Amino acid sequence: MLSNANIVANLIAEDMRGNSKHIEEVVTGMGADPSSRIVVLDSQAKVIYDTSENNNIKGKTLVREQILDALEGKDVVSTYKEKEVGTVVQTAVSVISNSEIAGVVYITSVASETDDFIKDIRWLFYVISIVVCILIGILSAVMADVIVSPIEKLTAKLSKADFETDGELVKFKGSIELESLAAAFNNLSGRLTEMEEKRRSFVSNASHELKTPLSSIKLLSESVLSMPEIDQETVREFMTDITGEIDRLSKIIERLLSLTKLDTEAEPLSLKVTDLNEMSQRIVKSLTPVAENKGIAITHITEKEVIGMADREKMWQVVYNITDNAIKYTPEGGKVEVGTYDDGKDIRIEVADNGVGIPEKDLDKIFDRFYRVDKARSRESGGTGLGLSIVKELVNMHGGEISVESIVDAGTRMKITIPKRLG
Ligand SMILES: Nc1ncnc2c1ncn2[C@@H]1O[C@H](COP(=O)(O)OP(=O)(O)O)[C@@H](O)[C@H]1O
Ligand SMILES: [Mg+2]
Repeated sequence: MLSNANIVANLIAEDMRGNSKHIEEVVTGMGADPSSRIVVLDSQAKVIYDTSENNNIKGKTLVREQILDALEGKDVVSTYKEKEVGTVVQTAVSVISNSEIAGVVYITSVASETDDFIKDIRWLFYVISIVVCILIGILSAVMADVIVSPIEKLTAKLSKADFETDGELVKFKGSIELESLAAAFNNLSGRLTEMEEKRRSFVSNASHELKTPLSSIKLLSESVLSMPEIDQETVREFMTDITGEIDRLSKIIERLLSLTKLDTEAEPLSLKVTDLNEMSQRIVKSLTPVAENKGIAITHITEKEVIGMADREKMWQVVYNITDNAIKYTPEGGKVEVGTYDDGKDIRIEVADNGVGIPEKDLDKIFDRFYRVDKARSRESGGTGLGLSIVKELVNMHGGEISVESIVDAGTRMKITIPKRLG
């Protein structure tokens, strides 16, 4: 309608001053449909031409907001409701002649056709909406089946899963996501199985270790009780043995407690600027009598100070334990060497001996709880098999590493590195 009005306005631009004949020709020539009415007005809003037959207002002034707007140069399209006929669309455009607004073309049209069109579209909308809803419903049901039923299967498998039988518990083919979920679960269950195994062997080892001295104590005291006549000297001998076993028990329990403390992280590190060279020197000094007792030459490779952030008490335990081991597992006449070095970013502590050594197959096990290469020898020298597992845990707490090189009957070298963490 707007473009029709513009065409009329252009065609009649030259005729605004009096040529009403041509205006009529143009307007009727447009062949507008009978439901629309075209009114041409001059710049005073006086009707020059009107296509209406039964309500012709030619010669009258028609004042409407849209027409006044058009006289100010604004093209207007709007609708209004009229009783009986319904929605009417109206448009008003200005007629420009010699770059002045010379009049207005005003067209009204009953919108019954447009209404019908809109109704049709509305219907189409309803139908499409219903169809889409139904499709979504069906699709959701299918998707739910595709997604939920495998998850249900997986859940059923998982709840039946037995951690003890095997690691590869859940197998799943089909959906990539579910396959990776199953893989993650298998991984987790593998780790749980491993942990469970460790826990079990720990408990059984601990019970065994505690039981051994207890059995000795029982045996010793029963022997004393079973002797009808017993002299003071023999009682003293038995009692000394019993006390020794009790000391052993206390030592194991003490170490177990310190391990659990480390496990639960009840005791956090207290890092302080520490001279680890001075510390290892002191340890060597304190262990020198023990070594000399065994005829072992213990030396400390003195260097300048080696400063880093460390928990002195814990690092003391670490170096003390491995130096103590070196003395313990070195026969008479051997030698032990302790050295602390500055590696730039790290601090390295090495303890070397020329003792019994460790067989290659045992090298990665000596850090396990209760593991001892030679149980009898270790027990004889007061070992519990817990020392190195505590050492390893303490080194790890410092963010460091411990490694071992060893040759049977030639000697062992323990190497610890911890980051300096200065600045
Ligand atoms: N310097 C070493 N030379 C030879 N064997 C060693 C040395 N240090 C540790 N081991 C072996 O590693 C085992 C575990 O050490 P550790 O945890 O300290 O237990 P233990 O209480 O027996 O000393 C020891 O029983 C010993 O067999
Ligand atoms: Mg030890």
